[in-house]
Amino acid sequence: MNQPAVLVVEDEELMRRILRQLLEAENFRVLTADSAENALEVFSTSDIAVVLTDIKMSGMDGIEMLDQIKSIDSEALVIIMTAYSSVDSAIAALRKGAYDYITKPFVNEDLLQTIKNAIQTRELFRENRALRRELDNQYDFSEIIGTSASLQNVFRVVEKVADTSAAVLIQGESGTGKELIAKAIHFKSRRATNPFLAVNCGALPESLLESELFGHTKGSFTGASTDKKGLLRSADGGTLFLDEIGEMPPTLQVKLLRALQEQEVTPVGSSVAIKFNARIISATNKNLENEVAANNFREDLFYRLNVIEISLPPLRERREDIPLLVKHFASQIARQQNKPEKLITKEALAALINFHWQGNIRELQNAVERAFILSNEEIETDNLPPKIKASAQNNFEMNDPEGLRPTLEEMERRYILEIMDAVKEDKTDAAEILGIDLSTLYRKLKRF
Ligand SMILES: Nc1ncnc2c1ncn2[C@@H]1O[C@H](COP(=O)(O)OP(=O)(O)OP(=O)(O)O)[C@@H](O)[C@H]1O
Ligand SMILES: [Mg+2]
Repeated sequence: MNQPAVLVVEDEELMRRILRQLLEAENFRVLTADSAENALEVFSTSDIAVVLTDIKMSGMDGIEMLDQIKSIDSEALVIIMTAYSSVDSAIAALRKGAYDYITKPFVNEDLLQTIKNAIQTRELFRENRALRRELDNQYDFSEIIGTSASLQNVFRVVEKVADTSAAVLIQGESGTGKELIAKAIHFKSRRATNPFLAVNCGALPESLLESELFGHTKGSFTGASTDKKGLLRSADGGTLFLDEIGEMPPTLQVKLLRALQEQEVTPVGSSVAIKFNARIISATNKNLENEVAANNFREDLFYRLNVIEISLPPLRERREDIPLLVKHFASQIARQQNKPEKLITKEALAALINFHWQGNIRELQNAVERAFILSNEEIETDNLPPKIKASAQNNFEMNDPEGLRPTLEEMERRYILEIMDAVKEDKTDAAEILGIDLSTLYRKLKRF
C-alpha cells in the first residue's frame, strides 16, 4: 500500500525514534531524515503528505528547508517544531508558509491533531482541484466541433485510447486542433484529476528545455538556485503534452527516449534516477516520418511516441465542418462580448466555406471573431478580412438565381465546370487544379 507519508526531520536520534513510534502507533507511514539536506532529497523523491520538522539543526535549519520545500511544491504542508522559548521563529515560519507549529515539549494528542488537520487540508486541496478540473472538462467537451467523417473518426480514437496510458502522436498543420485533441484525451481519461502540463519543444533553448523536462538539482548550473522537479515528474499521474516534438534537439531526443524506456528521469546535476508516471502526448506540424527519413528525428523515439497515431486533416479537406464551426465561434464571441447572437449571410458563409484555410481552424476563428465585431445586425461578406473577401470575388458564382443555397453536389458541379472553362476544356490541366485524378474527373463529367 502506498499511503502518503509523514516526513520527520530531526537531528536528535532519540527524538526521531519517539516521533516515529508515536506516529506509527496511529497508522501513519513514517519516513525520517536526520538533516534538512537529507529531508529535501527524500521530499523530492517520495510522496510526502506532511513534513514535521525541527527548527534548529546543524547545517541547513528548518526555516531555510521550508523555503526550499515550498519552491519545490507550493502546496506542501510543513509543521514546525520549536522550543517554547523561540516561538518568534515559529511565527516567522508561518509567514513563510508553514502550515502550523507546535512547541516542544508537546502533548502527544496536540501533535497528532495538528498532523491530522494538515492531512485533511491536503485532501481538501485535492478535492478542490479535482472539482475544478471536472468543470473544465465539461466546458472543454461541448467545444469540439466536427461532423466530417475524418473528425468523427478522430473522436472515436480519442474515446478508445483515453483510458490507456499509450503514447499518442498527433500530427496536423498549424491550427488544426492538436492541443484541443490532446486535452480531450486527458480529460476523458482517469488521469483527468491529475495535471495536464504542456511544453513547446521549439520555443526553449536546449539547456532550458532539458531542465524543464527532466528537472535539475540546486547548483547544477548558474541560476539553479533550487531543486526543480521537471515536467515529467510534475505531470505525475497526469499527462505531459510535448508540443512541436519535431523541434527537439538530437541530444534531448536521446535523453527522452531513455527516460521513456526506463520510466525514470535523471535530473540535470544528479546521478539518481527517479520514477515518473506521466502519459505522453506529442504533437507536430511537421511530417515526422519524413523527419526520420531525413535523419532529423530518431526512429526509435518516433516509434515510442507514435504508439497511437492521430492525424488531423486540414480544414480545407473537411469543409463540411465549416458552417458549424462558424456558428460555434460566432456564439462564443457573442457570449464573451455580452452581445446578442448574429446571423451570417449566405454569401459570407459561402466565402468562408470556399476559402483556402492555410491557418486552419485558428484562422477561421480569428476571421469570424473579427467579422462579428465589425458587423451590424448580420455578419456580411464585407465584414470578412480583405483576403477572404478578395478570394470570394474570384470565386465562381455560388448563388442560384432564386437565391437558394445549392447542394454540395451542385456546388461541386459548378466548380468543376468553371475550372474546365478556365482551362479551355483541357481535362489534364483541370484534374491537376482540382487535385483529383483524371479518371475521377471523367466519371464526374459524365454524371453531369
Ligand atoms: N474541432 C474544433 N472545434 C472547435 N474549436 C476548435 C476545434 N479544433 C480547434 N479549435 C480551436 O482552434 C484553435 C486552434 O486549436 P489548437 O491550438 O488546438 O491547434 P494546434 O493544432 O495546436 O495549432 P498550432 O499548431 O498552431 O499550435 C483553438 O482556439 C481551438 O480551441
Ligand atoms: Mg498547438
